[in-house]
Amino acid sequence: MQIFTTVATLRERLAHEPSVAFVPTMGNLHEGHLSLVEQARQHGKFVVVSIFVNPLQFGPNEDFASYPRTFEADCAGLEGLADAVFAPTVGEMYPVKQQVYVEPPPLAAELCGTFRPGHFRGVATVVLKLFNLVQPNAAVFGKKDYQQLAVLRAMTEQLNLPLAIVAAETARAPDGLALSSRNGYLSATERAEAPRLYRNLQSIAETLNKGRRDFSALEDAARDDLEKHGWRVDYVALRNAATLLPATPEDRELVTLAAAWLGKTRLIDNIESRL
Ligand code: PAJ
Repeated sequence: MQIFTTVATLRERLAHEPSVAFVPTMGNLHEGHLSLVEQARQHGKFVVVSIFVNPLQFGPNEDFASYPRTFEADCAGLEGLADAVFAPTVGEMYPVKQQVYVEPPPLAAELCGTFRPGHFRGVATVVLKLFNLVQPNAAVFGKKDYQQLAVLRAMTEQLNLPLAIVAAETARAPDGLALSSRNGYLSATERAEAPRLYRNLQSIAETLNKGRRDFSALEDAARDDLEKHGWRVDYVALRNAATLLPATPEDRELVTLAAAWLGKTRLIDNIESRL
């Protein structure tokens, strides 16, 4: 596995690679990330993983400075799975102040976008830059970040980017908690409480399967249960899985998304429902 830290050396190595699959990450890799890298192998002969904590997608009071950086362990985990790692510095990615941005679609202003203004603009901008550097045939993203996936699909489609976006299922701990780099922030007590988020999403999905369509009552019940157990809830929302618009009783493919805080840690998760 080769490690590249500069744009010039990465470009030189990839110049004549006919089939590249790409997995962008911010590092602190867990089994969820590694499952994306394994899937990437089915979509390209040469697999590139980027590790870059992107300042553009963090708000001023968010965890950019404290975001876990575990480069050595990440490379050890990728050995044998990836062919190349691209790990630029902030100065390498943003040699001049970034003044050109990708303006994401309106859905980026909803859900997490309400609570993290500018977040998806930062994500879309860095991902487009990375796509232009790596020029992959396919890129793999996790459904764990469902709204991010929707924003990046829209960007790829509407800007005619010549690559396939591949969606990968969410990897979970045995108790259901979605794997996340931010789980490391949780205290032992919070970690024991954390699976409640997904349990609430599962019970919404089961209730939908039984035919209930009173979406806002289902959202409120989940919110109440979380708040009763000490969570601060940003949102629980039933949406159309493709558009992320509020669910209607006619929709057949739904997704229930949630974001909530346990102490200082913000967790997100979602569950799809086909009715
Ligand atoms: P990061 O949070 O490191 O996630 C990198 C990729 O791993 C994303 O596609 C994310 O959806 C996926 N992922 C995270 N946890 C997962 C899990 N439990 N199961 C499956 N996939 C999972 O998302 C980002 O970085 C950044 O926003 C990025 C796209 C790299 C742009 O900076």
